[in-house]
Amino acid sequence: MERENFGSKVGAILAAAGSAVGLGNVWRFPIETGQNGGAAFIIIYVLCILVLGLPIMISEFLIGRHTHANTAGAYRILSAGSPWKWVGRLGVFTGWFILCYYVVVGAWTMHYTFLSAINAFYEAPATQYENIFNAFVSNPWMPTFWLFFFIAIIHFVIIRGVKLGIEKSAKVMMPTLFVITVVLTVCSICLPGASKGVEFLLKPDWSKVDSTVILQAMGQAFFSLSLGMGCLCTYASYFDKKTPLAKSAVNVSIIDTVIAIMAGFIIFPSVFNIGMNPNEVGVGAGLTFVSLPNVFQQAFGDGTLLAVVFSTLFYFLLFVAALTSAISLHEVATAYVTEEFKMSRKKGATIVTLTIVVLGTLCSLSFGPLSGIQLFDRNIFSLFDDFSGMVLLPLGGLLISLFAGWVLDRQLYRDEISNGGDLKTPYFKLLVFSLRYIAPLAIGLVFLDQIGVFNFLK
Ligand code: TRP
Repeated sequence: MERENFGSKVGAILAAAGSAVGLGNVWRFPIETGQNGGAAFIIIYVLCILVLGLPIMISEFLIGRHTHANTAGAYRILSAGSPWKWVGRLGVFTGWFILCYYVVVGAWTMHYTFLSAINAFYEAPATQYENIFNAFVSNPWMPTFWLFFFIAIIHFVIIRGVKLGIEKSAKVMMPTLFVITVVLTVCSICLPGASKGVEFLLKPDWSKVDSTVILQAMGQAFFSLSLGMGCLCTYASYFDKKTPLAKSAVNVSIIDTVIAIMAGFIIFPSVFNIGMNPNEVGVGAGLTFVSLPNVFQQAFGDGTLLAVVFSTLFYFLLFVAALTSAISLHEVATAYVTEEFKMSRKKGATIVTLTIVVLGTLCSLSFGPLSGIQLFDRNIFSLFDDFSGMVLLPLGGLLISLFAGWVLDRQLYRDEISNGGDLKTPYFKLLVFSLRYIAPLAIGLVFLDQIGVFNFLK
């Protein structure tokens, strides 16, 4: 079967950036920045990207493009029968796992876009937002309805193929996402009192920076760039031989970081405008679906057209960001099933979609009818979330950097990043040094920290 490629370099970069820009940019990065020293945190974050993120991203690109195979196939081809082939399989499994809960949140963003558009938050008292959210997620039907809707869109894009589905949708959605981000940022920093929000985000405070903050920055850089499993490797398997790997990785990192910083400028000026304490807005779902709808209503005028438009655009932005990331996760699994079990793309994608429908529904219902099912004090959703974020991703990242630094043939590496000698690679030695020593050490530390070893020692 003929394997498709992306049709253009821009398309390839936008697709990869679509994978990277996701919920992590909006619901984690801004608040982490604000609380951990503002510009000081951003500087550390950028250093993490330079030292860890880029070398691993370039390696994932390289592994995908060199083999032109799905992630499991790619590692198998490169490791010639050694146990390293399991790194690829682990990646596919991790992506599948993340997708199961990621689609649940994607569905919530659709519901909140809808609620914002019909002005449903008009005259809701501040205390009411938590109830609105809880009533929605614990309802057995509504979240499931949006979930199926969200998965159906992903499925539709995936079965249209790499060029007409993934690339074409990224070329529409990424510019849209960028324009919305700019519009919302401008609206937000025009609010009275916005400068306090800007200060909260940017004022460098090095006294807040300690080892925990550095570990947090590393973890965030990792998740935000979609590293540690097979997303970028799978997308890079559709790059052509002329795509410059290092330059593409730099572009994707810049787009991801810029959007994350702008998300902070969307959120915090409004928070300060209404006189709320930024340390009380929460993170993740609490921030996004409980604090922010209230903040936006109050900051832009309860029930006014401006508030409706602003919050509708904000949730639509989240929806687009989540969708492009979810598509990349689905593609990892689809490429695997299609190629390893030799079936048509349509059939492979359908199998993946069906598993996501089943497991995603279980995750979704774990806030309602299935909330009684708990393990380690977590519902099904949190089990998927924490197990992938705290165990599978760091483990994958560690193994990928070890594989790229110690196992992969050095000449092959050099040929591939220089496109067969066409490009100069003055950074090659640094890259290898990071992959061999710095990245495994750093990721190992994040891993130990996340599974709680350090807390245990304390
Ligand atoms: N990077 C995305 C975000 O910021 C999430 C994501 C998509 C991801 N694919 C991934 C994270 C692969 C880790 C690995 O929300």
